[in-house]
Amino acid sequence: MKFTAEKIKKLQVWLKQNRFDGCAVTDLDGVNFFSDFCFAGQGDAYLLITLKKAYCFTKKMYAVDLKKKTPYLTLVDSLYFEDIVKKAQSLKLKNCIFDTTATGYIAGTLFYKNGFKEYAGFIGKLKEIKTETEIARIKKACSISFRAYDIFRKKLKAGMTELEATSLLENIMQSLGGEGLAFNTIMAFGENSANPHHINSNRKLKQNEPVLLDYGCRYGGYCSDITRTFWFGKKPSGEFNKAYALVKAAHDLALKLAKPSAPACLPHNCVCDFFEDNGKLKKYFIHGLGHSLGTAIHEPPFMNPRTDEILKAGHIITIEPGLYFEGKFGIRYEDTVLIGEDKNKILTK
Ligand code: GLY
Ligand code: MN
Repeated sequence: MKFTAEKIKKLQVWLKQNRFDGCAVTDLDGVNFFSDFCFAGQGDAYLLITLKKAYCFTKKMYAVDLKKKTPYLTLVDSLYFEDIVKKAQSLKLKNCIFDTTATGYIAGTLFYKNGFKEYAGFIGKLKEIKTETEIARIKKACSISFRAYDIFRKKLKAGMTELEATSLLENIMQSLGGEGLAFNTIMAFGENSANPHHINSNRKLKQNEPVLLDYGCRYGGYCSDITRTFWFGKKPSGEFNKAYALVKAAHDLALKLAKPSAPACLPHNCVCDFFEDNGKLKKYFIHGLGHSLGTAIHEPPFMNPRTDEILKAGHIITIEPGLYFEGKFGIRYEDTVLIGEDKNKILTK
C-alpha cells in the first residue's frame, strides 16, 4: 500500500479558500486521517498543518517508520501541546484553527487562550467526499469482508461458541488480506440476535436458529462494514422468513432512495414507513439506517432522522435496516455502498 499526502493537500486547499493559515489536529482519528499513518493510540501524535507544511509532533519510536512512509511530514520530537502553540507563534500564524468537536479540553483551552480560533466539525466535513485512493482502500476492505462470509458459513459448526466463531471469521479476513478489524465483531446466536450491539459470549450454536454477524476489516487504515443474518439448520421458521424478506426489501428500497441531492434522513424515514405499512413493525426498527465510514467506522453523514445533510456522489454509506424481536430473534442486513452520480455501487459484494 502506498502512503499519500493527498488529504493534507485537500486540507491546505480548504484552509486557503477559507482564509485560514493553519490548523491543529490532536484526535487520533484526525491525525491518522491526515497523516495517512496508523498511530496506535490517542496522544501518540498531533499535527500542525500550515498552507505549505505539515508538522507531526510525536514520539521518537515512530520516527524510523514515519521517515520511510510519510516523507511529507516534518517531524517534531515532542508531545507537549505548548510546543504546538510555540511552533505556530514562531511561524507567525494569525488565523490558525482547531476543531472543537475533535479536541480535548486541555488542548482546546490552551489553543483558545493563545489565539487559535474555534471551528466546529471541519475534520468531519473534509472526510465526507472520498478520494479515489480512499475509495480503492474501502473497496478492498469490503471485498475481503464479503469473501470471508461464504468461507465462514462453510466452516461454522453447531457447538461453537460466539467467541470461537468470532475468531474463525476474523482469521479468515486476515488470511484474505485484512489488516485488522474495523470494530469489534458482533456474533449473535439465537435470541442474542435481537440485541443490535450484542457482546459476544460463550453461548454455543444450536441447530435451527438464526446467526447474525456484523463485522468489518481494515485495509490501508480504511474500514468496511457488513451484516448478514442467516438460519443455521434445515428449515427457517415462517416468522424468520417473513421478517427477513421485509428487512431485505427495506434495504433495497433505501438503496434506491440514497441518491445525490436526497436528504440523508429520507431513506431512514421511508424505511420506517415501509415497516409500519407492513404489519406495524416500525417499533422493532430501533437504530439509524446507516452512517458513513472511512478511517473511523462511524463518520458523517449519518443516515438517521436527526441529520440535515444532503447526500452527494462520492459519499460512502452503510445501509443497514433491521427488525429486533426481544427474547426471540433479530435480523439485520447491511451493505457498504458508494453513492454514484447515476448509480450506487454496493461494495460488500
Ligand atoms: N456495524 C456496526 C455499526 O454500524 O455500529
Ligand atoms: Mn454499520
